[in-house]
Amino acid sequence: MNKASLSLRPSAVIGAVDPRLYGSFVEHLGRAVYDGIYEPDHPSADADGFRTDVIELVKELGVSAIRYPGGNFVSGFKWEDSVGPRAERPRRLDLAWHSTETNEIGLHEFQDWLDKVGSELMLAVNLGTRGTAEALELLEYTNHRSGTRLAEQRIANGRTAPFGVRMWCLGNEMDGPWQVGHTTAEEYGTLAAKTAQAMRMVDPDLELVVCGSSSSSMPTFGEWERVTLTHAYDDVDYISCHAYYENTGDLGSFLASGVDMDHFIRSVVATADHVGAVRGSRKLIDISFDEWNIWYNTRFERVDRIAGVDNWPIAPRLLEDVYTVSDAVVFGSLLITLLKHADRVTSASLAQLVNVIAPIMTEPGGPAWRQTTFFPFAATSKHGRGVALEVDITSGTYATERFGEVPLVDAVATHDADAGRFAVYAVNRAIDAPTELAIDLTGLDADDLPVSARVLADPDLDAANTLEDPERVALAELPFTREGATVRLTLPAVSWIEVLIG
Ligand code: AHR
Repeated sequence: MNKASLSLRPSAVIGAVDPRLYGSFVEHLGRAVYDGIYEPDHPSADADGFRTDVIELVKELGVSAIRYPGGNFVSGFKWEDSVGPRAERPRRLDLAWHSTETNEIGLHEFQDWLDKVGSELMLAVNLGTRGTAEALELLEYTNHRSGTRLAEQRIANGRTAPFGVRMWCLGNEMDGPWQVGHTTAEEYGTLAAKTAQAMRMVDPDLELVVCGSSSSSMPTFGEWERVTLTHAYDDVDYISCHAYYENTGDLGSFLASGVDMDHFIRSVVATADHVGAVRGSRKLIDISFDEWNIWYNTRFERVDRIAGVDNWPIAPRLLEDVYTVSDAVVFGSLLITLLKHADRVTSASLAQLVNVIAPIMTEPGGPAWRQTTFFPFAATSKHGRGVALEVDITSGTYATERFGEVPLVDAVATHDADAGRFAVYAVNRAIDAPTELAIDLTGLDADDLPVSARVLADPDLDAANTLEDPERVALAELPFTREGATVRLTLPAVSWIEVLIG
């Protein structure tokens, strides 16, 4: 049995947990939209064709802002195609995913769906095949009240009140060779700055995200951030980070993915702060971690990628990863890492939401179900509110091939003063043995507060929820003892836990 301990101090505040930390992402990709959120013939479909079973699961998941409509898709997207009478909307080739986009669901319908799930729209503009002018037109269409051609067009299309979109991504992964219109940091930084300046002439209070690197393994990582921010520092509020992790057979390293994400965040913060220092600026650029997840990308490269000049399917099954228990434990640890940086990561988007590398899966005409990753997200989003607290952890370490010596236990806490509740999130990365964790509550004055604990673990690390067995994996109550101010729990090997105090 490994042993670890941690203590909580309400004064060890990292930062306020921005509700946008629990955002997500819906791209026109695979069955995310069609046969995902929208399936007019489904028995649960509402009058607008949206699956109400999916709506309920999205609400239960608790996602704040939802990034839309891409992703790689946005870099070839003409927003005008997706508004107006449906019968007149064109079908288009989507080069990003080698699919046909019908435009049956567009801006208005997606906003209607967001109204039903209670989430905020976060829009990305196309800086791949388009530029400043089209971004301005979209902004006028969505946010200008009335009296101009585009605002009146929106009103004629059914939305009298503006969409009022606050947060905008200036393109997507513009450093990636797979991106339509990918470019250099110099060119992109110049375009992003010009576009941001023009958008702020419409509304100075918009929140703007400049694209960082599409991953920390890109050869231009670091330099891309430095150059783009050198151009756009004064004009944007956030720089984006994207990171996906997968188990390539080295479970020890996979379980330590949070260590990599932590290093990534520190590197981007350092680079942004360096640019700020050089400019003599007191402004801080925050991070929008607007794509993060487990993604079996190598499988996509090998098996899923669509090719062929005449092969442009509508809503094909793409990126439909089935998540295991170990995936969900790593996923929970990534949430811990994001919370540990709540002072600078003030927005994040779980990529993605339905069917495509998603916590929610659907079958056409059939059920919708929760993947294993659903559980850590729903729990953290529900209870990990208020402020994030640094915890003092004592834990053994283990050797990993990719990241060297790594702590067996990682953890963070939150304090929601309004709810009168503390939450502790911890992960046990030990593969072969449980870890006894002692949580010292001395600093909390918590004698009268109730304690409860839940765990995500399974002797079968590959267990998953599937169409055939949709409830195989769920959170379970975790027994604990409480003596004075110490709570003791036994964390199973490869597990993620939530402890609520209050
Ligand atoms: O989320 C899937 C894809 O991953 C997105 O479209 C792209 O931005 C990233 O490469």
